[in-house]
Amino acid sequence: MRSLIDILELTTKELDELIAVAEDIIANPAKYAEVCKGKKLATLFFEPSTRTRLSFEAAMYELGGNVLGFSEANSSSAAKGESVADTAKTISCYADIIAMRHPKEGAPLVASMNASIPVINAGDGGHNHPTQTLADLLTIKREKGSLSGYTIGFCGDLKFGRTVHSLIAALSRYENIKVVLISPDELKLPDYIRKDILEKNNIEFIQTESLESVMPELDILYMTRVQRERFFNEADYIRLKDSYILTPKKLETAKGSLTIMHPLPRVNEISVAIDSDPRAAYFKQVLNGKYMRMALILKLLEVEVK
Ligand code: NCD
Repeated sequence: MRSLIDILELTTKELDELIAVAEDIIANPAKYAEVCKGKKLATLFFEPSTRTRLSFEAAMYELGGNVLGFSEANSSSAAKGESVADTAKTISCYADIIAMRHPKEGAPLVASMNASIPVINAGDGGHNHPTQTLADLLTIKREKGSLSGYTIGFCGDLKFGRTVHSLIAALSRYENIKVVLISPDELKLPDYIRKDILEKNNIEFIQTESLESVMPELDILYMTRVQRERFFNEADYIRLKDSYILTPKKLETAKGSLTIMHPLPRVNEISVAIDSDPRAAYFKQVLNGKYMRMALILKLLEVEVK
Protein backbone atom coordinates (compact mmCIF):
# COMPACT_ATOMS: atom_id res chain seq x y z
CA MET A 1 0.00 0.00 0.00
CA ARG A 2 1.33 3.43 -0.97
CA SER A 3 0.57 6.97 0.11
CA LEU A 4 1.63 10.21 -1.58
CA ILE A 5 3.23 12.66 0.83
CA ASP A 6 6.04 14.12 -1.30
CA ILE A 7 6.03 14.37 -5.10
CA LEU A 8 9.50 12.76 -5.25
CA GLU A 9 8.00 9.47 -4.03
CA LEU A 10 6.79 9.09 -7.60
CA THR A 11 9.38 8.14 -10.22
CA THR A 12 9.54 10.04 -13.51
CA LYS A 13 8.00 6.99 -15.17
CA GLU A 14 5.11 7.05 -12.69
CA LEU A 15 4.56 10.78 -13.25
CA ASP A 16 4.43 10.18 -16.98
CA GLU A 17 2.02 7.25 -16.47
CA LEU A 18 -0.31 9.40 -14.33
CA ILE A 19 -0.32 12.03 -17.07
CA ALA A 20 -1.13 9.34 -19.66
CA VAL A 21 -4.01 8.02 -17.53
CA ALA A 22 -5.37 11.57 -17.03
CA GLU A 23 -5.24 12.13 -20.79
CA ASP A 24 -7.10 8.85 -21.32
CA ILE A 25 -9.74 9.93 -18.78
CA ILE A 26 -10.18 13.20 -20.69
CA ALA A 27 -10.59 11.28 -23.96
CA ASN A 28 -12.78 8.44 -22.60
CA PRO A 29 -14.60 9.54 -19.42
CA ALA A 30 -17.30 6.85 -19.72
CA LYS A 31 -14.70 4.09 -19.37
CA TYR A 32 -13.91 5.34 -15.86
CA ALA A 33 -17.40 6.23 -14.63
CA GLU A 34 -17.92 3.14 -12.42
CA VAL A 35 -14.42 1.92 -11.67
CA CYS A 36 -14.42 3.04 -8.01
CA LYS A 37 -17.94 1.84 -7.25
CA GLY A 38 -18.22 0.97 -3.55
CA LYS A 39 -15.01 2.82 -2.63
CA LYS A 40 -14.90 5.81 -0.28
CA LEU A 41 -12.59 8.80 -0.23
CA ALA A 42 -12.29 10.72 3.06
CA THR A 43 -11.37 14.40 2.71
CA LEU A 44 -9.87 15.59 6.01
CA PHE A 45 -9.31 19.32 5.64
CA PHE A 46 -7.95 21.13 8.68
CA GLU A 47 -7.34 24.28 6.56
CA PRO A 48 -9.45 26.21 4.04
CA SER A 49 -9.69 24.94 0.49
CA THR A 50 -11.92 25.33 -2.54
CA ARG A 51 -10.19 23.64 -5.46
CA THR A 52 -8.22 20.91 -3.80
CA ARG A 53 -11.04 19.51 -1.68
CA LEU A 54 -13.79 19.89 -4.26
CA SER A 55 -11.63 18.53 -7.07
CA PHE A 56 -10.82 15.46 -4.97
CA GLU A 57 -14.53 15.02 -4.30
CA ALA A 58 -15.49 15.57 -7.95
CA ALA A 59 -12.72 13.15 -8.97
CA MET A 60 -14.07 10.39 -6.71
CA TYR A 61 -17.66 10.95 -7.88
CA GLU A 62 -16.58 10.81 -11.53
CA LEU A 63 -14.95 7.44 -10.80
CA GLY A 64 -18.25 6.19 -9.38
CA GLY A 65 -17.08 6.29 -5.74
CA ASN A 66 -18.35 8.08 -2.65
CA VAL A 67 -16.97 10.80 -0.42
CA LEU A 68 -17.09 11.60 3.28
CA GLY A 69 -15.14 14.04 5.40
CA PHE A 70 -14.90 17.44 6.99
CA SER A 71 -13.77 20.82 5.71
CA GLU A 72 -12.62 22.55 8.87
CA ALA A 73 -10.73 21.46 11.96
CA ASN A 74 -13.43 22.87 14.24
CA SER A 75 -16.02 20.40 13.02
CA SER A 76 -13.80 17.38 13.80
CA SER A 77 -12.53 15.93 17.08
CA ALA A 78 -9.26 17.79 16.49
CA ALA A 79 -11.12 20.63 18.23
CA LYS A 80 -11.32 18.35 21.31
CA GLY A 81 -7.59 17.63 21.14
CA GLU A 82 -7.56 14.37 19.16
CA SER A 83 -4.18 13.61 17.56
CA VAL A 84 -3.60 13.25 13.81
CA ALA A 85 -2.50 9.64 14.46
CA ASP A 86 -5.77 8.74 16.18
CA THR A 87 -7.80 10.52 13.51
CA ALA A 88 -5.98 8.49 10.82
CA LYS A 89 -6.63 5.19 12.64
CA THR A 90 -10.29 6.10 13.00
CA ILE A 91 -10.85 7.10 9.38
CA SER A 92 -9.15 3.86 8.27
CA CYS A 93 -12.22 2.07 9.67
CA TYR A 94 -14.59 4.07 7.46
CA ALA A 95 -12.89 4.86 4.15
CA ASP A 96 -10.56 3.37 1.51
CA ILE A 97 -8.33 6.41 0.94
CA ILE A 98 -7.66 9.74 2.65
CA ALA A 99 -6.86 13.20 1.25
CA MET A 100 -5.57 15.37 4.10
CA ARG A 101 -4.73 19.07 4.32
CA HIS A 102 -3.22 20.38 7.53
CA PRO A 103 -1.52 23.62 8.67
CA LYS A 104 1.33 21.66 10.31
CA GLU A 105 4.18 20.50 8.11
CA GLY A 106 4.44 16.72 8.32
CA ALA A 107 0.88 16.03 9.56
CA PRO A 108 -0.11 13.96 6.48
CA LEU A 109 3.12 11.96 6.90
CA VAL A 110 2.16 11.18 10.50
CA ALA A 111 -1.31 10.21 9.27
CA SER A 112 0.19 7.86 6.66
CA MET A 113 2.30 6.15 9.33
CA ASN A 114 -0.81 5.42 11.38
CA ALA A 115 -3.47 4.75 8.76
CA SER A 116 -4.10 1.35 7.23
CA ILE A 117 -5.26 3.00 3.98
CA PRO A 118 -3.39 5.30 1.53
CA VAL A 119 -3.01 8.94 2.57
CA ILE A 120 -2.61 11.77 0.06
CA ASN A 121 -1.01 15.01 1.18
CA ALA A 122 -3.40 17.75 0.03
CA GLY A 123 -1.09 20.48 1.37
CA ASP A 124 0.90 20.57 4.63
CA GLY A 125 1.66 24.03 5.97
CA GLY A 126 4.31 25.88 3.99
CA HIS A 127 5.93 22.59 2.96
CA ASN A 128 4.53 20.53 0.07
CA HIS A 129 1.50 20.18 -2.18
CA PRO A 130 2.12 17.21 -4.47
CA THR A 131 -1.33 17.00 -6.07
CA GLN A 132 -1.18 20.64 -7.17
CA THR A 133 2.07 19.66 -8.84
CA LEU A 134 0.27 16.87 -10.68
CA ALA A 135 -2.22 19.48 -11.96
CA ASP A 136 0.66 21.76 -12.93
CA LEU A 137 2.55 19.02 -14.79
CA LEU A 138 -0.48 18.04 -16.85
CA THR A 139 -1.06 21.73 -17.64
CA ILE A 140 2.56 22.21 -18.77
CA LYS A 141 2.38 19.02 -20.84
CA ARG A 142 -0.85 20.10 -22.54
CA GLU A 143 0.19 23.73 -23.08
CA LYS A 144 3.80 23.14 -24.08
CA GLY A 145 3.64 19.61 -25.48
CA SER A 146 6.55 18.49 -23.29
CA LEU A 147 7.88 18.63 -19.74
CA SER A 148 11.43 19.39 -20.86
CA GLY A 149 13.31 22.32 -22.36
CA TYR A 150 11.88 25.60 -21.09
CA THR A 151 12.55 28.53 -18.78
CA ILE A 152 10.06 28.81 -15.92
CA GLY A 153 9.75 31.84 -13.65
CA PHE A 154 8.31 31.45 -10.15
CA CYS A 155 7.07 34.78 -8.82
CA GLY A 156 5.81 35.88 -5.39
CA ASP A 157 5.96 34.00 -2.12
CA LEU A 158 8.60 31.35 -2.78
CA LYS A 159 9.27 30.92 0.94
CA PHE A 160 5.87 29.72 2.12
CA GLY A 161 4.37 28.75 -1.26
CA ARG A 162 4.12 24.98 -0.98
CA THR A 163 3.00 24.55 -4.58
CA VAL A 164 6.30 26.11 -5.72
CA HIS A 165 8.34 23.74 -3.54
CA SER A 166 6.68 20.63 -4.93
CA LEU A 167 6.71 21.78 -8.55
CA ILE A 168 10.43 22.66 -8.43
CA ALA A 169 11.13 19.20 -7.01
CA ALA A 170 9.16 17.51 -9.79
CA LEU A 171 10.75 19.61 -12.55
CA SER A 172 14.21 18.64 -11.33
CA ARG A 173 13.46 15.26 -12.94
CA TYR A 174 13.11 16.66 -16.44
CA GLU A 175 15.75 17.78 -18.96
CA ASN A 176 16.88 21.25 -19.78
CA ILE A 177 14.81 23.26 -17.33
CA LYS A 178 15.92 26.77 -16.35
CA VAL A 179 14.42 28.24 -13.19
CA VAL A 180 14.03 31.96 -12.54
CA LEU A 181 13.15 32.79 -8.92
CA ILE A 182 11.43 36.16 -8.59
CA SER A 183 10.63 37.34 -5.06
CA PRO A 184 11.32 39.99 -2.45
CA ASP A 185 14.37 39.12 -0.35
CA GLU A 186 12.21 38.06 2.63
CA LEU A 187 10.20 35.59 0.55
CA LYS A 188 13.07 33.81 -1.20
CA LEU A 189 13.02 30.07 -1.85
CA PRO A 190 14.09 28.19 1.33
CA ASP A 191 17.78 27.21 1.38
CA TYR A 192 16.99 23.51 1.70
CA ILE A 193 15.18 23.48 -1.64
CA ARG A 194 17.82 25.60 -3.36
CA LYS A 195 20.60 23.31 -2.14
CA ASP A 196 18.94 19.87 -2.11
CA ILE A 197 16.97 20.22 -5.31
CA LEU A 198 18.35 22.93 -7.60
CA GLU A 199 22.07 22.77 -6.83
CA LYS A 200 22.19 19.02 -6.28
CA ASN A 201 20.56 18.34 -9.65
CA ASN A 202 22.61 21.01 -11.46
CA ILE A 203 19.51 22.93 -12.50
CA GLU A 204 20.38 26.32 -13.92
CA PHE A 205 18.70 29.04 -11.81
CA ILE A 206 18.85 32.74 -11.02
CA GLN A 207 17.28 34.80 -8.23
CA THR A 208 15.96 38.32 -8.83
CA GLU A 209 13.54 40.83 -7.35
CA SER A 210 12.52 42.20 -10.74
CA LEU A 211 9.81 40.51 -12.78
CA GLU A 212 10.16 43.08 -15.58
CA SER A 213 13.85 42.33 -16.11
CA VAL A 214 13.28 38.61 -16.78
CA MET A 215 9.88 38.68 -18.50
CA PRO A 216 11.21 38.39 -22.11
CA GLU A 217 13.08 35.16 -21.28
CA LEU A 218 10.20 33.21 -19.78
CA ASP A 219 8.33 30.34 -21.42
CA ILE A 220 6.19 29.81 -18.30
CA LEU A 221 5.36 32.30 -15.55
CA TYR A 222 4.07 30.72 -12.31
CA MET A 223 2.52 33.46 -10.14
CA THR A 224 1.74 32.87 -6.46
CA ARG A 225 -0.19 34.51 -3.64
CA VAL A 226 1.63 35.88 -0.59
CA GLN A 227 0.67 33.28 2.04
CA ARG A 228 -0.90 35.51 4.67
CA GLU A 229 -1.76 32.63 7.02
CA ARG A 230 1.94 31.71 7.41
CA PHE A 231 3.06 35.21 8.49
CA PHE A 232 3.73 35.94 12.14
CA ASN A 233 3.09 39.61 11.69
CA GLU A 234 0.28 41.32 9.78
CA ALA A 235 2.39 44.44 9.09
CA ASP A 236 4.93 42.34 7.12
CA TYR A 237 2.11 40.76 5.14
CA ILE A 238 0.64 44.16 4.26
CA ARG A 239 4.03 45.46 3.18
CA LEU A 240 4.75 42.46 0.94
CA LYS A 241 1.33 41.43 -0.35
CA ASP A 242 1.30 43.53 -3.50
CA SER A 243 4.97 43.05 -4.42
CA TYR A 244 4.02 41.70 -7.84
CA ILE A 245 0.87 42.38 -9.78
CA LEU A 246 0.75 41.03 -13.31
CA THR A 247 -0.95 43.51 -15.64
CA PRO A 248 -1.36 43.62 -19.46
CA LYS A 249 1.29 46.38 -19.49
CA LYS A 250 3.87 44.13 -17.80
CA LEU A 251 3.13 41.42 -20.36
CA GLU A 252 4.09 43.69 -23.27
CA THR A 253 7.65 42.34 -23.28
CA ALA A 254 6.61 38.69 -22.77
CA LYS A 255 6.77 35.96 -25.39
CA GLY A 256 3.65 35.35 -27.46
CA SER A 257 3.98 31.69 -26.45
CA LEU A 258 4.21 32.38 -22.69
CA THR A 259 2.05 30.19 -20.42
CA ILE A 260 0.75 32.02 -17.34
CA MET A 261 0.04 29.76 -14.39
CA HIS A 262 -1.21 30.26 -10.80
CA PRO A 263 -2.35 27.56 -8.37
CA LEU A 264 -5.15 29.93 -7.21
CA PRO A 265 -6.68 31.45 -5.15
CA ARG A 266 -5.45 34.75 -6.55
CA VAL A 267 -5.80 37.82 -4.42
CA ASN A 268 -4.23 40.65 -6.43
CA GLU A 269 -1.36 38.98 -8.23
CA ILE A 270 -2.96 38.75 -11.67
CA SER A 271 -5.17 41.48 -13.05
CA VAL A 272 -8.52 40.06 -14.21
CA ALA A 273 -7.86 41.81 -17.53
CA ILE A 274 -5.41 38.95 -18.23
CA ASP A 275 -8.04 36.22 -17.86
CA SER A 276 -9.10 36.56 -21.50
CA ASP A 277 -5.47 36.48 -22.76
CA PRO A 278 -4.93 33.15 -24.56
CA ARG A 279 -1.70 32.73 -22.55
CA ALA A 280 -3.63 32.52 -19.26
CA ALA A 281 -3.72 28.86 -18.17
CA TYR A 282 -4.77 29.10 -14.51
CA PHE A 283 -8.34 27.96 -14.96
CA LYS A 284 -7.08 25.07 -17.10
CA GLN A 285 -4.92 24.07 -14.12
CA VAL A 286 -8.12 23.82 -12.05
CA LEU A 287 -9.68 21.35 -14.48
CA ASN A 288 -6.45 19.41 -15.01
CA GLY A 289 -6.23 19.00 -11.23
CA LYS A 290 -9.41 16.95 -11.21
CA TYR A 291 -8.16 14.59 -13.91
CA MET A 292 -4.80 14.07 -12.24
CA ARG A 293 -6.47 13.39 -8.90
CA MET A 294 -8.65 10.79 -10.63
CA ALA A 295 -5.51 9.15 -12.03
CA LEU A 296 -3.83 9.26 -8.60
CA ILE A 297 -6.80 7.73 -6.78
CA LEU A 298 -6.83 4.85 -9.30
CA LYS A 299 -3.11 4.30 -8.81
CA LEU A 300 -3.16 4.31 -5.00
CA LEU A 301 -6.29 2.13 -4.83
CA GLU A 302 -4.64 -0.19 -7.38
CA VAL A 303 -7.74 -0.16 -9.57
CA GLU A 304 -7.20 -1.84 -12.94
CA VAL A 305 -9.05 -0.21 -15.83
CA LYS A 306 -9.22 -2.10 -19.11
C1 NCD B 1 -2.61 26.58 -3.02
C2 NCD B 1 -2.37 26.00 -1.63
O1 NCD B 1 -3.32 25.64 -0.93
O2 NCD B 1 -1.20 25.89 -1.32
N1 NCD B 1 -3.96 26.46 -3.40
C3 NCD B 1 -4.33 25.32 -4.05
O3 NCD B 1 -4.40 24.27 -3.48
N2 NCD B 1 -4.58 25.42 -5.36
C4 NCD B 1 -2.08 27.95 -3.21
C5 NCD B 1 -2.47 29.01 -2.22
O4 NCD B 1 -3.23 28.80 -1.29
O5 NCD B 1 -1.96 30.13 -2.43
